[in-house]
Amino acid sequence: MSVKSSAKQIVRRLLPEGITETLRDVRYQVKTIRLAGLDFRLETPNRRVLEDSILPAFAADPRYRRVLFVGCRWYTKIYAAIFRRSEYWTIEIDPAQAKFGAQNRHIADSYLNLSRHVEPGAFDLIILNGVFGWGIDSPAETEIALYETLRALNPGGVAVFGYNDTEDNHPSFLDVPSQAIAMLEPFHFAPLGGSHYVTLDDPGRHTFEFFRKPIEARPVDDQPG
Ligand SMILES: C[S@@+](CC[C@H](N)C(=O)[O-])C[C@H]1O[C@@H](n2cnc3c(N)ncnc32)[C@H](O)[C@@H]1O
Repeated sequence: MSVKSSAKQIVRRLLPEGITETLRDVRYQVKTIRLAGLDFRLETPNRRVLEDSILPAFAADPRYRRVLFVGCRWYTKIYAAIFRRSEYWTIEIDPAQAKFGAQNRHIADSYLNLSRHVEPGAFDLIILNGVFGWGIDSPAETEIALYETLRALNPGGVAVFGYNDTEDNHPSFLDVPSQAIAMLEPFHFAPLGGSHYVTLDDPGRHTFEFFRKPIEARPVDDQPG
């Protein structure tokens, strides 16, 4: 353990829980404002939908504690701060982008190999934004990625697919029916009013789709009556 992390632990033990939480929040805000001030965020309509609506809603919901974000770039580095209360993981095929992934919870490999790294049901939320049509392209690869998603989601877990609905970059599942997608159910994402959202005024026609892995057996206390 480094001197820095043991000093942090001592301070945490000395301070009451509430103050530690407040300090953490202040640190987060300072970090976010500074980064926003330096324009470290991508300023596009779809990025606003993702960053102002989708990510904060899931981050605030305790049902989505274990999160996987796929594909890391400089502008996705701040997502670890949005999910600071979650167990936030990232995966990225390009090792050079690892520095923009989650600290200590980054997988440097293809998403197509996810099952080499995690147990079935490992995540409550998986976000693939800008990956279908931007690296995972062919119908065969897309189907593998979708089956990896099905396997890695906990029953009741949600998958968010963000993609460009354009000639060049649209995902293959818009052309070729996917058996894996048929095993998921549409998830109503209340902040955007449904399970399918096309970003307004977005040149890339960026679209978000929300799916849920069905819960086969509902827990006893969830039964009607
Ligand atoms: C257009 S960028 C999108 C980045 C980010 N996900 C976002 O929200 O904008 C596509 C990223 O996906 C990564 N990628 C492409 N194929 C991948 C794969 N099979 N597994 C993991 N990452 C992949 C690329 O290296 C790149 O960083």
